[in-house]
This record gives sequence, C-alpha cells and structure tokens, in this order.
Amino acid sequence: MATKEEILDAIGEMSVLELSELLKDFEDRGEGSADPAKRRSTLRFLNELYLVGIVPSIDPIVELLKSLVAEDEKTREFLGAADEREIIFVRGATEGINLVASSWGGTELSPGDEIVLTVMEHHSNIVPWQLIAERTGAVIKVVPIDNAGELIMDEFEKLLGPRTKMVAVTHVSNALGTVVDVATINRIAHNHGAVTLIDGCQAVPHMAVDVQALDADFYVFSGHKLYGPSGIGVLYGKSDLLNAMPPYQGGGEMINTVGFEGSTWAELPYKFEAGTPHIAGTIALGAAIDYVTGIGVERIAAHEGEL
Ligand SMILES: Cc1ncc(COP(=O)(O)O)c(C=O)c1O
Repeated sequence: MATKEEILDAIGEMSVLELSELLKDFEDRGEGSADPAKRRSTLRFLNELYLVGIVPSIDPIVELLKSLVAEDEKTREFLGAADEREIIFVRGATEGINLVASSWGGTELSPGDEIVLTVMEHHSNIVPWQLIAERTGAVIKVVPIDNAGELIMDEFEKLLGPRTKMVAVTHVSNALGTVVDVATINRIAHNHGAVTLIDGCQAVPHMAVDVQALDADFYVFSGHKLYGPSGIGVLYGKSDLLNAMPPYQGGGEMINTVGFEGSTWAELPYKFEAGTPHIAGTIALGAAIDYVTGIGVERIAAHEGEL
C-alpha cells in the first residue's frame, strides 16, 4: 500500500487531463471490462485513493469499486475462502505447488524437517517437494494406501512427528479416484503443528470445496480440470501464511516501490502475481466457474454418483 505522501506525489505529477482520463477509463470499464488485470490495478489504485480520503464521497466510484471486485470475489466464493486477497492466480496447480514449496519451504524448512506426501500424489505434488528437500536438507515421507486404494490413516498418523512441517496431499486421486478425507488430514496435521497443502485438481469439478470448512492452509487447482483453459489456475493460501512468505518471482505488478538499493512488495495477492497476468485465461476461468456453479457442483456429484 502506498503512503498518502506517495499517492499525493503521484497525483501531483499527473495532469488534470491524465487524472480525468484515468477516472473515465475506470468508469468506461465498469463491470463488463474484458481486462481483469487492468481492472485489478485500477481498483488497487482507486482503493488507495479512497482509503486516504482523496475521493471520500464519490458514490459512483464506490459503487464501481464494489462491482470490480466481482472477478476475484467469484473465485473466493467458489473455494469458500475468507478473503479475495487469499486467491492467487497462477499458471496451474503445478505452479501453485512450486510457489509454496519454494517460498514457504525455502524459509520454513531446515535440515531434518519432514514433508509428508502420499503414494497417490500426481508428479506435480512430488517433484517440487523433492527440489526443496534437496535445497534445504528436508526429508520426504510417504503415506501408503491399502488394497482398496484408500490412505492408511494409522500409517499417516505414525509418520507424523515433531519434525513434520508440511503435509501435502491430493483431495481426489487422479489415478485411482480415491476421495481423501482431507478435513481429517488437516486436523491431524495441525495437531502436530504442520502446515497443509491440498491438491484440489480432481476435486473442484466433482464436489463443493470449502477451504475454510476443510481448514486447508493451501489449496491448488488448475483451470483445465474445471472445463476452463490450460495455463491458468489458482493457489489459495491463508493470509497469515502468505503474508509471511517472500515473493516467488520478481517483476512488475508485485512491487510497491523499486530502487536499485532494494524494492518493497505489493500487498496480497499482487505480491505473488509478478508480471503481466494471463488475462484471457483469467476471464475464461471465471466463465468456467460460472458454468460449473450454474449447473451446481452438488448436481454434478449426484449425477456422477448415479453413473
Ligand atoms: C491431481 C493433479 N494434480 C496436479 C496436476 C497438475 O496440473 P497442471 O499440469 O495443470 O499444473 C494434475 C493434472 O494434470 C492433477 O490431476
């Protein structure tokens, strides 16, 4: 968040024409804007103005601000997250997991710390942990399954100990279709002081997901598993964890100030959205969410149950 002085400086450098163009541009975009990236940065800028009282009483702007949050709000509601700032747009589940492994793992893992995975994980939920384990000296433990393809919960509990720092588990197995009781996994992991990441790629198209009810610390999914495009996905993370993590990538959009001596980071979610975002993909992901929620995830699940 820019300071009031910085904002006043920025405005001071803008001509009246530039300022009125900015506001007109903002109004023109309105709810139907096809450019969520621009909408989000305009929203952020106007939010900053509004928060420091520069446009304290312009009701139409306040109304527009409300409508502009619709895009992020849609994804927040889809996952049951507490706050839209906990929704990070990434290239897919793979990038989301790499982001957490690298940023969270890079600061939180020490030699001998343990990462618990299951034998059912997709490669995307194995290799990023191997890479960070190599970098930090952490150790990977793997929970086995029984003959019915179910996780052996006793074995899971036996693997947890004082060195367990991360439990990364799929919600639904892509190979076996096993539905994992991730609410219980999260509860047990938290009792041991571990953080959890749930790979929701195969879950989101088939069941209603509520990250708060599940008490997942991180949750990832990919657009193309939800009838959307490839190259776009979502990382959900609890804001206290995301706020404590360093950026994963550097570049535009993720900075607050830049200097050759050092830079400062933008607030969530921008801190983790470096560079020009996948604008078309974000729009298409929103349409995919509309499509699935329009049918109703419960109805999809019920139909699948009948098949
Ligand atoms: C369970 C699971 N996790 C992770 C992935 C990786 O997703 P992506 O390649 O979109 O990052 C997939 C799908 O390909 C998957 O089915």
